[in-house]
Amino acid sequence: MKVLVVMGSPRKGNTYRAVKKIEEVMQSKGDVEFEYLMLKDANLSNCSGCFVCFMKGEDHCPIKDDAHLIEQKMHDADGVIFATPVYGMSVSALMKTFIDRFSYIFHRPRFFHKKALLLSTTGAIGLKDILDYLQLVASIWGFEVSHRVGIVTPPLAISRKKELANEQKLNKAAAIFYDALQKKDRRSPGFRDVIVFHAQKASFGELIQDSPTDHAYWKEQGWLRPQAKYYVDVPVNPVYNAIGWTAEQVLRRKIRKDMAEAQR
Ligand SMILES: Cc1cc2nc3c(=O)[nH]c(=O)nc-3n(C[C@H](O)[C@H](O)[C@H](O)COP(=O)(O)O)c2cc1C
Repeated sequence: MKVLVVMGSPRKGNTYRAVKKIEEVMQSKGDVEFEYLMLKDANLSNCSGCFVCFMKGEDHCPIKDDAHLIEQKMHDADGVIFATPVYGMSVSALMKTFIDRFSYIFHRPRFFHKKALLLSTTGAIGLKDILDYLQLVASIWGFEVSHRVGIVTPPLAISRKKELANEQKLNKAAAIFYDALQKKDRRSPGFRDVIVFHAQKASFGELIQDSPTDHAYWKEQGWLRPQAKYYVDVPVNPVYNAIGWTAEQVLRRKIRKDMAEAQR
């Protein structure tokens, strides 16, 4: 099994040590290969905001860096650990640059057969917001989020009790992620996942001229078929589906109305 760590900390500090602990526990359970993508050393530039990846496709991006290779690393792994410290009440700048650079994946999701573990460390506060954000990103990109773990690692001395509590959280995260990687099936999507699917289906189904690359991708994947309920063939809660379908019709009507008005 291969795990890619996307390391958003600029140093081998608390966040790195937390992932190392997870690696140690997972390796004690079986054959797991870890690769660390240290974003600080990666050849990944800031997105320049040109919209070319959205409109024409990521292969037309004018930035010449290693984005393509880095995306391939995620495809080659069975699971990805997204790890970031809380910096300035948010993810680190390195992690945000990484996410922005792959923004086209929000429109054209692809990692449906990969599991994700989300990890954050903080001096005091901010863990929930950061983990919520990472969860939104990873799930829209297609990952099945197996678990999220946040630990408080204050800059000053940490009590033995807190240290043990952190260790327990990391052990638990490692065990859950290890088990998730053993399973090849995918669990049913949650309510938000289903709503996101239908909202995107409405947008990319209607925006044939305005979002041609997204439209073509969605069509090719079979996601624009009227009966498509989700990106992958898994059972979808019928109530979620009914609400998602209704929201999709409302959104389609709104998009058509907006487009008609824009043409006047
Ligand atoms: C630039 C910077 C900004 C930080 N901002 C916050 C913050 O907003 N809230 C917080 O509780 N801790 C904050 N911290 C503390 C870190 O979240 C904490 O020490 C974390 O474990 C550092 O991880 P690292 O060793 O991997 O860099 C900040 C630390 C640094 C260096």
